[in-house]
Amino acid sequence: MNKRILVTGGTGYIGSHTVVELMQQGYEVVIVDNLSNSNITVLDGIQAIVGRRPEFVNADCCDYVAMDNVFRSYPDIKGVIHFAAAKAVGESVEKPLHYYRNNMHSLTTVLELMQEHEVHHIVFSSSCTVYGQPDPEHLPVDETAPRKKALSPYGNTKQINEDIIMDQAHACASLRATILRYFNPIGAHPSALIGELPNGVPNNLLPFVTQTAAGLRDELRVFGDDYNTPDGSCIRDYIYVVDLAKAHVCAIERMLSGKTQEQVEIFNLGTGRGLSVLEIVRTFEEVTGQKLKYRIVGRREGDIEQVWADPTRANTVLGWRADTPIRDVLLSAWNWEKHLRNIK
Ligand code: UD1
Repeated sequence: MNKRILVTGGTGYIGSHTVVELMQQGYEVVIVDNLSNSNITVLDGIQAIVGRRPEFVNADCCDYVAMDNVFRSYPDIKGVIHFAAAKAVGESVEKPLHYYRNNMHSLTTVLELMQEHEVHHIVFSSSCTVYGQPDPEHLPVDETAPRKKALSPYGNTKQINEDIIMDQAHACASLRATILRYFNPIGAHPSALIGELPNGVPNNLLPFVTQTAAGLRDELRVFGDDYNTPDGSCIRDYIYVVDLAKAHVCAIERMLSGKTQEQVEIFNLGTGRGLSVLEIVRTFEEVTGQKLKYRIVGRREGDIEQVWADPTRANTVLGWRADTPIRDVLLSAWNWEKHLRNIK
């Protein structure tokens, strides 16, 4: 019997890297994606890396009938990794209803169909955004740190979705769920055949850095150097997307082999090391040999000063560690940008 995993949002940034890792570990994959924020050519990249093409269904996870068909067509689905969601913080402030409808409805549809088709395992993509700015005694952040009121509709959908999973697990004894709270995923597959494909002007730091180095943007604006941090710029826990993808395989394995101890397990996925914006800029320049034009500007509204993970639980329980050196990670991001722009 196949070990098949349904990956929603599997042509997206983290989704595509996870599909590669799953397939390389012998899983069969069916991707469901409506391509609203990804490109069908990602499947070619996955195929070139793995040597096999994943099954793909172009559908919206909110579409009950289409999703029901997916579960019917692939009766060997053993688990679901649910990435499909809208994820731009600023856009969520402008279009809150889109975020609530899309992000809530896709999860509830998937959970309903899992129950109906007796699929018992789900991994859910959550975010460290649920912690807001942790109090100093909670830095680094472990899973016991309190969730803070969300600062955006996007963040709120992550919190509510976590709660929906908790409630469904309470009601449905056979359900097992793993909630993964990502810190800041960056980088691209070492093959440079898949990576992040930002829509329009990137909001996140790394795509802006690589696009600036490639000459697509005039300069990087560093949002604030007057924070209460050693160099004044904000601190984050940047995690290599391939390391992050591997954590999903560990989470699925753990559930499928019946090793979970609680119905819903939560893990913070980070490196355990905080890096400042200026450290990222300097290290990027060093490893790529590219001079990066940047300027310090005012703080970005809603930014958190500093947050980084205590990944001990994931390290010990999942047996997983994000240990790719930051220099390799930044180089992978640059190689991907060069691949996209045909830079030699
Ligand atoms: C952001 C979201 C977070 C979401 C995550 C997904 C906000 C406030 N937070 O996190 O909810 O889960 O993306 O990846 O949008 N920076 C610059 N110049 C830039 C871009 C970023 O200096 O052009 C700085 C930011 O001020 C921040 C750091 O780089 O200190 C990282 O920014 P970003 O990549 O946007 O991630 P987060 O803000 O951590």
